[in-house]
Amino acid sequence: MTLGDWWRHGVIYQIYPRSFQDSNGDGIGALAGVTRRLDHLNDGTPRSLGVDAIWISPFYPSPQFDFGYDVADYTGVAPEYGTLADFDELIREAHRRGIRVIVDFVPNHTSHRHRWFVESRAGRDSPKRDWYVWRDPGPGGGPPNNWQSTFSRVGSAWTFDPVSEQYYLHSFLPQQPDLEWWNPAVRAAMNDVLRFWLDRGVDGFRIDVAHKMAKDPDLGDNPHDLGVPGARRRDEDWEPEIHEIIREFRRTIDGYEDRMAVGEVFILDPRRMVRYYGEALDELHLAFNFSFLRQPWNARAFREAVELYEDVLPEGAWPDYTLSNHDNPRARSRYDPGDGDPARGQNRARVAMLMLLTLRGTPFLYQGEEIGQADGEVPPERVVDVAGRDPERTPMQWAPGPGAGFTSGEPWLPIGREADEVNVALQQDDPGSMLSFTRRAIWYRKASAALRWGSYRPIEAGAGVFAFARTAEAEGERLVVVLEFEGRDRRLDLAAVLGTADRTAVLELSTRPGRHAGNVDLRALELGADEGIVAKLG
Ligand code: NOJ
Repeated sequence: MTLGDWWRHGVIYQIYPRSFQDSNGDGIGALAGVTRRLDHLNDGTPRSLGVDAIWISPFYPSPQFDFGYDVADYTGVAPEYGTLADFDELIREAHRRGIRVIVDFVPNHTSHRHRWFVESRAGRDSPKRDWYVWRDPGPGGGPPNNWQSTFSRVGSAWTFDPVSEQYYLHSFLPQQPDLEWWNPAVRAAMNDVLRFWLDRGVDGFRIDVAHKMAKDPDLGDNPHDLGVPGARRRDEDWEPEIHEIIREFRRTIDGYEDRMAVGEVFILDPRRMVRYYGEALDELHLAFNFSFLRQPWNARAFREAVELYEDVLPEGAWPDYTLSNHDNPRARSRYDPGDGDPARGQNRARVAMLMLLTLRGTPFLYQGEEIGQADGEVPPERVVDVAGRDPERTPMQWAPGPGAGFTSGEPWLPIGREADEVNVALQQDDPGSMLSFTRRAIWYRKASAALRWGSYRPIEAGAGVFAFARTAEAEGERLVVVLEFEGRDRRLDLAAVLGTADRTAVLELSTRPGRHAGNVDLRALELGADEGIVAKLG
């Protein structure tokens, strides 16, 4: 493989716009704020992070019941985030710096305030009635079936509408009615949405719940026990139609040069998840691999997650890894041993970052991960999300001070407790900071064929250590990555397990601030507690 396909070899950085950078003091992030911070992401020099692409979570007009994932207009910009002109400016400035722009596409449901739904709800004979899933009550007047909202607090996925005395379906909040994907007009309209943004110059899409659109057309009940062999969920992942829908998206996207789609396919069985690459690799370019979100801090667990995933990926499909996003606790907090010593959590965050950036596959970073930002503390009176996701959405920590450099006003979610110590400004020029480490690792990756497209081979380095080799034969580059998970110093003999005649290697990267590059002895490789390294074989 060679260069090309930016989404394979590049690093992709998620921006949650509400929490990234305010620009007018209203306490809410804005597109102009993203533009202002582009130099942090990539100014073309190793003084910046060096990310290749940004994925921006929804910034479309929305009543914000699900913070933008309830879209009221697919082709506009919410006033609190700016204007379409701000978006055009953001794309221009990003492209000028070589940063690609991926936007969020939310096809399964709209906001209840979307004009399609307002019209659909007007009555049984509305021309848009069949754009959503309406059904008569079940026997006894209850919901038509047993489907539940993904948000457990919501309960049933059906809401009764007294106007027409029918129920409508919502896989998430009642304010997020599901579109009727069996209706060709819905399909056409949503492919037009893709074209709208492609024409505006976006480089790709992150497709929200890409497995949800197609459901059992007969609306059969979900089995009570999904563990029973043959039991099949009826409210998502309905084959083969779901794949037809994704293939159509792909055809639309392929009408433009060099674009991509990454899908949020939240299916826990990896074998089913990877089907979304398509049998002929004609569906998603990437499907988010969320397996790391569920691993305990354990070398074997990560190694096995990688192996299982590498094993089930179809021939030619490209892997990817994610440690955090706006729906899950941040890696920095998740892996914190909770022993009261913040340094340990920070060291683990660095090891996790090194793992993310050195495995075979596209790394997705979540804003703030580069500085080791922790989940924020959100007191009960400030809770705004229905599903407990506020902590991972607290504002980006740019600088010390009351608004953390995010806002001059009152932030929509509280600023994290550590913000005065853990922020971009303080880490910027400190060579020992997590930010400096993340930058070094990203820029190192950029220049390394082995890390970008080389082979992956796990190495037996003993319990508590996850080690692997990355090799680019054609370029003659051989790297070994060694990650310590148990918080104890070790001396490892890697020469034997690597089967190499080389005794020395060159230490290229270490998560430890004080450790400098130089030769290391492969027969007695020193690895510190909670340390990760990359070494180059001769
Ligand atoms: C997945 C998104 O990441 C999440 O934030 C949202 O609540 C649901 N999809 C519904 O759109």
